Amino acid sequence: MWVRIWAAVVVLAGCGSVDDERAAAKSDDSQSSEGLDSADTEPIPTWHQDVAPIFSRSCDGCHAPDGVGSPTWSSVEDVVEWAPVIRAAVEARTMPPWKAKGDCSDYTGDVSLTDDEIDRIVRWAEGDAPLGDATAAAALPDAWQPVSLERVDRTMRMVDLYTPESDAGPDDYRCFLMEWPEEETVWVTGYELLPGNTQVVHHIIPFLIEPSSADAYRALDAADADPGYRCYGGPGGNVDTLLETRWLGAWAPGVPASVLPEGTGIKVEPGSLVVFQVHYNLINGSAPDQSGLALTIETEPQAFAEIQPLTDVRWVLGVGMDIPPESTSVSHSWSTTISSGFTMHNGSLHMHQLGRAGRLWVEHADGTEDCLLEVDDYDFDWQRPYELKEPVRVMPGDTIHLSCTWDNPTGDTVGWGDGTGDEMCLGVSLITG
Ligand code: HEC
Repeated sequence: MWVRIWAAVVVLAGCGSVDDERAAAKSDDSQSSEGLDSADTEPIPTWHQDVAPIFSRSCDGCHAPDGVGSPTWSSVEDVVEWAPVIRAAVEARTMPPWKAKGDCSDYTGDVSLTDDEIDRIVRWAEGDAPLGDATAAAALPDAWQPVSLERVDRTMRMVDLYTPESDAGPDDYRCFLMEWPEEETVWVTGYELLPGNTQVVHHIIPFLIEPSSADAYRALDAADADPGYRCYGGPGGNVDTLLETRWLGAWAPGVPASVLPEGTGIKVEPGSLVVFQVHYNLINGSAPDQSGLALTIETEPQAFAEIQPLTDVRWVLGVGMDIPPESTSVSHSWSTTISSGFTMHNGSLHMHQLGRAGRLWVEHADGTEDCLLEVDDYDFDWQRPYELKEPVRVMPGDTIHLSCTWDNPTGDTVGWGDGTGDEMCLGVSLITG
C-alpha cells in the first residue's frame, strides 16, 4: 500500500535536549516582570493547596495501591516519604512517562506536567514537603481512569506460564504464539492488553500474523524447547512476513484499553496467529508470567480499520538506513504520497535502544501540516500509542512523513534488524477508511 521513495540522510539541527528547554524556560521566567527575586520570597507550595491536584491528575492513576507504578502510595505520608525521589523524577522528566510533545498535537489522557507544575513539585519537595491546611484543600480534578472494555468476547492468554530469565543484562525479550480461536472471519472492535505480572512485564506488542505466514512462526516456536522463542522489536520471522504484519496495539504501564471508532473493526481471518511479544525486565527479580489479551469481537462486517506500520520498504530490506559508528543525531526520513483517503486516529513511534527522537506528520496537498507525534527523548520502554483528540483526515495527494534520530555510541554501523543491537524506524497509526 505504501509507495517507497528515496530516504534522505539529514542531520537535524536544533534537536534541543530537555536541559536546553528547561534552561530556556528559566531564562524566560527571569525576564518576566516578576523576576527571580519574587520566586525567592514566594511561599513554599503545600500538599493540600498546590501539589495534591497534580498528583490526582497525573500520578495516582499508576501509583495508587493497585496501580502499575512502583512505588505505590496509599496515603499522603507515603508520598511525603518519597518526596526527594519524586522531585528527582519530575525534574528529570522521567515521570510521568509521557513522551509526546504537547506542541505537536492534543491527546486524550494527557498526564504530562507543565513547567509550572514541575516547579511547584520541586519547590514543595525542597521545602520539606509541607502538608498545608487540610480544611482549605484545593479541589481535586477527576483522577485519570484507565478505560476498560465494555464487553469482552474473547480472552486469549499465553499457553504456558513463563518465568523470564536472562544470561546477559536484566532484560528478556520473548515472543509467544497464540492460535487465533475464531472459526469464521471476525472484526476486532476493541482490545485490552492484560499483563500477567507487572513485576516483570515491561511492555507488550501483539502482532497479527496472516494464515499464509502462520507456519513460519510455528516453526520458530517449535525450534525452542521453552515456551515461546527469543525475539526483539518485531515478531521474529523474515522481512516479507514483517512487512505484512499488523499490530494489535502496544502496552506499556498506563496504556488503557482501546475501543475502535464506531462501526469499524480490524478484520481477522480464521487460521491467523497472534505473536505476543513481551519485554520482561528482571530488575526486581524474576517471577512467572502469563499475560493475555481481551477482545471485543463482531461477526457482522465492520468498516475498515487497521493498525498500520508506516516505514520505508528499502530500510526493511537493508538499504538506506545506516547509522554510522560513533555518531550522534543521525536522522533518516521517509515520506510517501497517498493515493486514497483515510483517517489517522493515533500515533506511535518504534525504534530500538539507540533511538533518541522521532516525528510522524502529514503534509496536506494545500501545504498545511498535521503533526501526529513528536518525541525528543525516545525510550524503548515507554513506547505507546498517543490518541489524537482530533483524528487527522488524509486525502489523496497528501504526504505522510516519518523521521527518526539515533545516537550510535558503538563501533559498528547499525542498520535495520530484529536484534537488540539493530534498529528500526516505524510510525504506527490506527487508520480507518
Ligand atoms: C503511566 C503510568 C505512570 C504515571 C502516570 C506515573 N508513573 Fe511514576 N512510575 C511508573 C512506573 C511503571 C514506575 C516504575 C519504574 C519504571 O518502570 O520506570 C514508576 C516509577 C516512579 C518513581 C520511582 C523512581 C523512578 O524515577 O523510577 C517515582 C518517584 C515516580 N514514578 C513518581 C511519579 C510521579 C510524581 C508521577 C506524576 C507526576 C508519576 N510517577 C506518574 C508509572 C507511572
